Amino acid sequence: MASLTIRKLDEGIKTYLRLRSAKNRRSVEEEVRVILGELIEGREEPLTPFAAPPAASTAPTSQRSGAPPEASVTLIIGGGIAAYKSLDLIRRLKERRIEVRCVLTTAAQQFVTPLAVSALSHERVHTDLFDPQSEFDAGHIRLARECDLIVVAPATADLMAKMANGHADDLASAILLATNRKVLVAPAMNPLMWNNAATRRNVAQLQRDGVVLIGPNSGEMAEAGEAGIGRMSEAIEIATAAERLLRPPVPRPLAGKRVLITAGPTHEPIDPVRYIANRSSGKQGFAIAAAAQAAGAEVILVSGPVDLRDPQGVTVKHVESARQMLEQVQAALPADIAIFAAAVADWRVANEGEQKLKKTSAGMPPLQLVENPDILATISKLTGERPPLVIGFAAETEHLIDNAKSKLARKGCDWIVANDVSPATGVMGGDRNTVHLISRKDGEKNSEKDGEIAVDSWPVMTKEQVAIELVAHIAKSVTGKSREPAS
Ligand SMILES: Cc1cc2nc3c(=O)[nH]c(=O)nc-3n(C[C@H](O)[C@H](O)[C@H](O)COP(=O)(O)O)c2cc1C
Repeated sequence: MASLTIRKLDEGIKTYLRLRSAKNRRSVEEEVRVILGELIEGREEPLTPFAAPPAASTAPTSQRSGAPPEASVTLIIGGGIAAYKSLDLIRRLKERRIEVRCVLTTAAQQFVTPLAVSALSHERVHTDLFDPQSEFDAGHIRLARECDLIVVAPATADLMAKMANGHADDLASAILLATNRKVLVAPAMNPLMWNNAATRRNVAQLQRDGVVLIGPNSGEMAEAGEAGIGRMSEAIEIATAAERLLRPPVPRPLAGKRVLITAGPTHEPIDPVRYIANRSSGKQGFAIAAAAQAAGAEVILVSGPVDLRDPQGVTVKHVESARQMLEQVQAALPADIAIFAAAVADWRVANEGEQKLKKTSAGMPPLQLVENPDILATISKLTGERPPLVIGFAAETEHLIDNAKSKLARKGCDWIVANDVSPATGVMGGDRNTVHLISRKDGEKNSEKDGEIAVDSWPVMTKEQVAIELVAHIAKSVTGKSREPAS
């Protein structure tokens, strides 16, 4: 049985899976299992797990080189002058990691040769409904269904008429009648044919049937001196339309929002070689930065010293101490959302040694501590540039909820993400987290309301899932709200 490595999936698919699994409170693996189960339940063909694969299968073979294909298209080429553009379309689809199996109508073979199409697609070309090689196992049915999308380009007036009326007297029309996949049609014909009442009726019928049309464009025709609507869309336009149908855009609910995040510990120097630190790994803050970026936000991450790779597409400012962190946070304002996930040291050494402290007979040097700036409170209490949503983290080892509630009141932030960091939980430095979202606003369902403060307790999740869930809550809360534009 094949195994699937989630890590190796396309970024867009991974983000979709993460968002979906966080929403459904499942692990990503469980979510993939559910999706596969739903797919199998929704199948129309019976499952025949023990059928041996046919020797001369029309199933797509993997590409000869490069990355594996991510989707497959059955491309039906009709008999029009624009058929030459379909050769380019094959290339454009393959560039997008879409596998292409081609079907040529009898008329199409007058315009392009099966040899050229086969050389470009790296696949056997299909031309005949009654091809004994394909039809011993109903090849036309498999060409109709063992793909993610059917593209008809060029779609002749004749082919569209057959589609609109349910004909199935050749391979192309039989595939189009037998498919349960989406169909993208790129018409190409003389403007008089396009404007003919019969073609108008057929086009309207196809649209009612859910067929997606691209083009035709207007311009000069192959016929000398003729111009008008009827030119087939360019190959690149058709490939882009196909890609959009195959890979719908991932939702980006934080597009246009600027999100400021802090992460990691701070290091407070004792002398040039020694410092006070804490066990924060920065993983939670980095995961939030990646999730916010995937949700479309512009993200600025101010990070203390960590052993993590900068998340892609995120502006990262690396700092050491609490004072440097505050400086970078202030420099990054204004922001729509500020999330303070860093474990900032409460104190620093007042009498920091300019040189390395030496052992002396006088004994240990006394370390005097002074309070560090409180970054969360400082930003929460700003008047002019206060981000509309300020979220703090409370890492507690006892009385988690009570301490987090009083932190929310004391600091003046809007939400607190409280997590138990006592050693037994393994949260500090670990990969999982159990958090409680404490907010001033009305909580979600399942929240335990306490006056104006809502406590929403989440199940144990990976830090990535916590990040995705938090970003989903943020997206819901800030939709439509923006910081005041800087004057
Ligand atoms: C030179 C030439 C060019 C043609 N170009 C087109 C065209 O662009 N669009 C169209 O609908 N039919 C065009 N036709 C007519 C089709 O080839 C004809 O209707 C054929 O039956 C279509 O078959 P098919 O739909 O099975 O591919 C053209 C015919 C010739 C001879």
